[in-house]
Amino acid sequence: PRRIIIDTDPGQDDAVAILLALASPDLEVLGITAVAGNVPLALTQRNARIVCEIAGRPDIPVFAGCDAPLARPLVTAEHVHGKTGLDGPALPDPVMPLQDRHAVDFIIDTLRAEPAGTVTLCPLGPLTNIAAAFRRAPDIIPRLQQVVLMGGAYFEVGNITPAAEFNIFVDPEAAAIVFASGVPLVVLPLDVTHKALTTPARVARFRAMGNRAGTMVAEWADFFERHDREKYGTEGAPLHDPCVIGWLLNADLFLGRHINVEIETEGRFTTGMTVADWWRVSDRAPNALFIRDVDADGFFDLLTDRIARLA
Ligand code: BDR
Ligand code: CA
Repeated sequence: PRRIIIDTDPGQDDAVAILLALASPDLEVLGITAVAGNVPLALTQRNARIVCEIAGRPDIPVFAGCDAPLARPLVTAEHVHGKTGLDGPALPDPVMPLQDRHAVDFIIDTLRAEPAGTVTLCPLGPLTNIAAAFRRAPDIIPRLQQVVLMGGAYFEVGNITPAAEFNIFVDPEAAAIVFASGVPLVVLPLDVTHKALTTPARVARFRAMGNRAGTMVAEWADFFERHDREKYGTEGAPLHDPCVIGWLLNADLFLGRHINVEIETEGRFTTGMTVADWWRVSDRAPNALFIRDVDADGFFDLLTDRIARLA
């Protein structure tokens, strides 16, 4: 199995991504690192543990990381995810422990201990933990197999400002460090996640599964869909973060290009924008595989098949 660390700020769509990874025998989740994002760190680390328990995997080590962006105050997204970050179904407090080690130490230690080229990082939130690890231990960068992240937008532009996607906007300095690091980078931006919509027919399939995970996915979709229906008039909500795991499981469902992507950190209106050179009009070297398209039905078939395997 492909070995991954999930860095996350759950978030209903993060939660679905975690369930998808834990339901997939072709992936081995070495650990989950929480970061402040959709809601503060105290909630994201708690939510990550709740999701592991829903998947029947209290053995997964969960670590708390950075509680604020590198150089700015935290911006959160309760308007999308609710007060707890996982609003929707009633959820019990987690029983499994939070690990003592800091998430950034776990990332560094793991990458130094494991054979080079065998571990992939999957960031699903602001890139604070990843940038902190890269800054403190640049020796881990060439040891990574890949970084496959959800963040950014180009043709679909922004969801938190007119120009910026939430994960990049919250910590643009961190994003700039990751995008300039030279690590093999795969980016799943809004351009692709806005094509992976939780339509009523797709949600019905989760509801019909009869397992706890399927019910949770349906109820989370019911909750965060309301925001998107009102705001964008779509018939469902984009399932952003599961696209990262979907790409790892079957990259053939996705289409993108190797291009240059720069992070705007000091724009007057555009801070946090991912300036993606899709048409290759600059002479800047490609630094990312920027995904733009997905076979949404194929992706939901994969997701449904895997979530149904959970107890
Ligand atoms: C991203 O922001 C968060 O609200 C979601 O969990 C996703 O990671 C989408 O812009
Ligand atoms: Ca997220």
